[in-house]
Amino acid sequence: MPEAIVVMGVSGCGKSTVGAQLAAAIPGAIFMDADDLHPAANKARMASGVPLTDDDREPWLRACATWLAAEIAGGAQAGGRPAVLACSALRRRYRDVLRAGAPDLRFVHLHADADLLARRLDGRRGHFMPATLLASQLQTLEGLQPDEAGFTVDIDAEPQQVIRRVLAGLSAGQPVAGDEPAFRGGGQRLL
Ligand SMILES: Nc1ncnc2c1ncn2[C@@H]1O[C@H](COP(=O)(O)OP(=O)(O)OP(=O)(O)O)[C@@H](O)[C@H]1O
Ligand SMILES: [Mg+2]
Repeated sequence: MPEAIVVMGVSGCGKSTVGAQLAAAIPGAIFMDADDLHPAANKARMASGVPLTDDDREPWLRACATWLAAEIAGGAQAGGRPAVLACSALRRRYRDVLRAGAPDLRFVHLHADADLLARRLDGRRGHFMPATLLASQLQTLEGLQPDEAGFTVDIDAEPQQVIRRVLAGLSAGQPVAGDEPAFRGGGQRLL
C-alpha cells in the first residue's frame, strides 16, 4: 500500500463517497476531503457557479500538500498507515504540487462519461458545488500521464464495487477477474 493516495476527478465522480469508504476499508487509514481545505472565498465562488482560477487554487493546493506531508510523517511514526485525500487534482501541474512533499503518492482517477456525472450531480442534494460547473471541470481535466504513478477506474458501479476496483489496483495493479473493462492504466501501470 502506498503511503498516500489521492482520489481525483471532476465534480460528481465520487471522490468524497469513494474516498471515505476506501479509507475505511484500509486498516488505520486517515481520510481528508480537500473540499474542507478550501478557503471560504473559494467555496463561495464555486457555490455561485464561478469556476476557480489557478490563483484561487494555489493556496488550496498548498494546504492539501501540507496535509499530505504531515500525515505521511505521522503515518511513518505510527508504523505506516496511508493518508487518503479526496481532491479533484484536475491538472498535471496541480498534481505536481501535491507530489512535491509526497514522493510515494498514488493517484486514483475516478472516471465516467459526462452523462453519468451529470446524473449523479442531479441526484445530489445539499452540496455547495452546482452541477453547472461540470462542463468547466471536464474542460480543465488532464488525465494521468504515463509517468504519473496511478491508475484510472470507471465508476459505473455501486461504491463497494468501485472500491474493490481501486483496492485491486492499489494492491497488485491487476484488474479484478472479470473486471477488465473497468480498469485502465491511466498513469504508470502498477505491474
Ligand atoms: N458509485 C456510485 N454509485 C452511485 N452513486 C454514487 C456513486 N459514487 C457517488 N455517488 C453519488 O454521486 C454523487 C456525487 O458523489 P460525490 O459527492 O462523492 O462526488 P465528488 O467527486 O466528491 O464531487 P465534488 O467534487 O463536487 O465534491 C453523490 O450524491 C453520491 O452519493
Ligand atoms: Mg466531494
